Amino acid sequence: MTKTAAVTGATGFLGTHLCERLLADGWTVRGLSRPTSDRGDLEAPVEWYVGDLFDDATLRSLVDGTDAVFHLAGIGLWSGDAATVERVNADGTSRLIDACRHGETSAGKLVFTSTAGTRRPSTEGDIADETDYAPPVGAYQSSKAEAEVLVDNYASTVGEAVTVHPTSIFGPGDETFTAQLLAMATDPTMFVYLPGGLSIVGVTDVVDGIVAAYERGENGGHYILGGENLTLEQAISRIAHCTGGHRAPLEVPSAAIHAAGPVAETVGAVAGVRMFPFDRDMARLATKRLYYTSRKARDELGYDYEPLEEHVPNAMAWYRSL
Ligand SMILES: NC(=O)c1ccc[n+]([C@@H]2O[C@H](COP(=O)([O-])OP(=O)(O)OC[C@H]3O[C@@H](n4cnc5c(N)ncnc54)[C@H](OP(=O)(O)O)[C@@H]3O)[C@@H](O)[C@H]2O)c1
Repeated sequence: MTKTAAVTGATGFLGTHLCERLLADGWTVRGLSRPTSDRGDLEAPVEWYVGDLFDDATLRSLVDGTDAVFHLAGIGLWSGDAATVERVNADGTSRLIDACRHGETSAGKLVFTSTAGTRRPSTEGDIADETDYAPPVGAYQSSKAEAEVLVDNYASTVGEAVTVHPTSIFGPGDETFTAQLLAMATDPTMFVYLPGGLSIVGVTDVVDGIVAAYERGENGGHYILGGENLTLEQAISRIAHCTGGHRAPLEVPSAAIHAAGPVAETVGAVAGVRMFPFDRDMARLATKRLYYTSRKARDELGYDYEPLEEHVPNAMAWYRSL
């Protein structure tokens, strides 16, 4: 029998890839779309439900009688101020869970996309797993941490739910992280790259992990979906090698990034303009190596990821088409 999925964030970077994958696997896909959303090439055959996370009636009909509810809608500090980030990520998740609880017929298993950022290595050089809870830095991490508690409560009471924690996602359609990385690896006018390191995962690997979490994730379980742990210098050198580009030659000194935090705070307070890193704590975080293991997802879900090079051609083709 055909399965039915509800997808919030269906019009976003990750959501578009997830919808394409579910459609290819034969699912009926219901997507939440705001009136202003750009649906890109996904116009059909996704069944669109028009509204946002605060439109209770739309949410109820979206999740009603589904087999799975994939909750991807969310925003970061690039897209909104702290209050908006808190409202969309935490209150929006609460509204979706209410819709799952109170629909006419039961909603399917909830798969919530949080972030690896709610976990962190306890000392630099360590590799974090799902048990490494970290004090949230900024509204994005704190709102995702709040949403995780709501999802865990739902899983331990009436619902069935699982939470995935992607690291930094790389792939076509991402105009922020992926586009910046490709620019640093290929654009001769880019002179600098940032210090620090991170786990970079291809978008198709994350989509596989989300589907596997639906199929095999333990109720109430949390799974990091990561990729290779790389310094930014390693990442852009490897992309430059694949594409024949010339990577940015200079690393921005950590001290300059640390100084940028207070500057951004001052500019924000005086001029109301938001700059990254948004504050001192984020400035400190931006220079660290934040590495993760996906061992739990591998053992329990059969999750795996490919090296960065496998994801470069599709991302590069998209980037060149911009
Ligand atoms: N990209 C990453 O590296 C990464 C890493 C870890 C976790 N994540 C998480 O993965 C999820 C998807 O990320 P992404 O990179 O695909 O983000 P994205 O491209 O910015 O997409 C965000 C989606 O959320 C929707 N949305 C925002 N506010 C909404 C609201 N009030 N009501 C309904 N929908 C709303 C957007 O709709 P519109 O199209 O109308 O704007 C869009 O479909 C997010 O929850 C993010 O926190 C992402």
